[in-house]
Amino acid sequence: MSSNQPYLTFHDGRRIPQLGLGTWQVTGEHTAPAVRAAVQAGYRAIDTAYIYHNETEVGQGIAECGIPREDLFVTTKLWNNRHDRESAKAALQESLDRLQLDYVDLYLIHWPIPKENRYLEAWEALIQLHDEGRAKSIGVCNFQVEHLQKLLDKTGVLPVVNQIELHPYFQQTELQAYHADHEILTEAWSPLGQGQVLQDPVIQSIAHELQATPAQVILRWHIQMGRIVIPKSTHAERIQENFNLWNLYLDDAAMARIATLDRNDGRIGPDPDRFHLMEG
Ligand code: A2P
Repeated sequence: MSSNQPYLTFHDGRRIPQLGLGTWQVTGEHTAPAVRAAVQAGYRAIDTAYIYHNETEVGQGIAECGIPREDLFVTTKLWNNRHDRESAKAALQESLDRLQLDYVDLYLIHWPIPKENRYLEAWEALIQLHDEGRAKSIGVCNFQVEHLQKLLDKTGVLPVVNQIELHPYFQQTELQAYHADHEILTEAWSPLGQGQVLQDPVIQSIAHELQATPAQVILRWHIQMGRIVIPKSTHAERIQENFNLWNLYLDDAAMARIATLDRNDGRIGPDPDRFHLMEG
């Protein structure tokens, strides 16, 4: 099974497929079939996390998908209650055991949890895990500028990627500008706004003009903006639809129309400055 698709290059020199399968809220018996359907459709990147409680099933899908490990790109994430150094290192090994893998391609701190203020310690643990080869690249999720700047000031090592909530209703232009200035790639979670942006009249009208689906228009917008995207679906036909973007092109006018959809109150998920869930 060959697969042609765009890759982006991290500042550490490694590459990531620009489009991957998100698995938040994909649980139980739906997980391995979703991973297999994605690989069959051409995806080579799978995104999971400890807190999704599906690493075992993601690992099962990976084992069954028939693609050599080195051709896949697997991401998982460190949960909020494991930011202390020893616990962070143990947590990755536990994730690897569940995934049945020797390494992940990308290991991310899931949330900064500024109230606990231990993300710097977690970052130092990830740097060590990277040096040991158990995480080929390291990054973060949901970090704000001040959190990223602290990593840079204290360790001199910047994440290769910051995975953040990003969709047409919540475009995070300031944070993305910081990323661009610091060679951090932007990865969009909930790229379809948890499905809520699919009904938007502007998106629907562009989709109609291009004879594409609303999901394809939104995902293509992300791709043309140079981001990594990880749409989630448990339906094989949608998983396939979401990968079928490479002959679609949004012109400047369509891109400009989507830019106008940004809203001050567009955030759907938690605010990283206030989110401090520790249970897992
Ligand atoms: P489902 O899993 O039932 O297919 P996001 O990745 O932004 O969080 O969006 C995920 C949501 O969008 C899920 O509810 C998913 O539903 C839905 N979804 C994903 N792809 C498509 C698609 N191509 N068409 C319609 N809904 C989709």
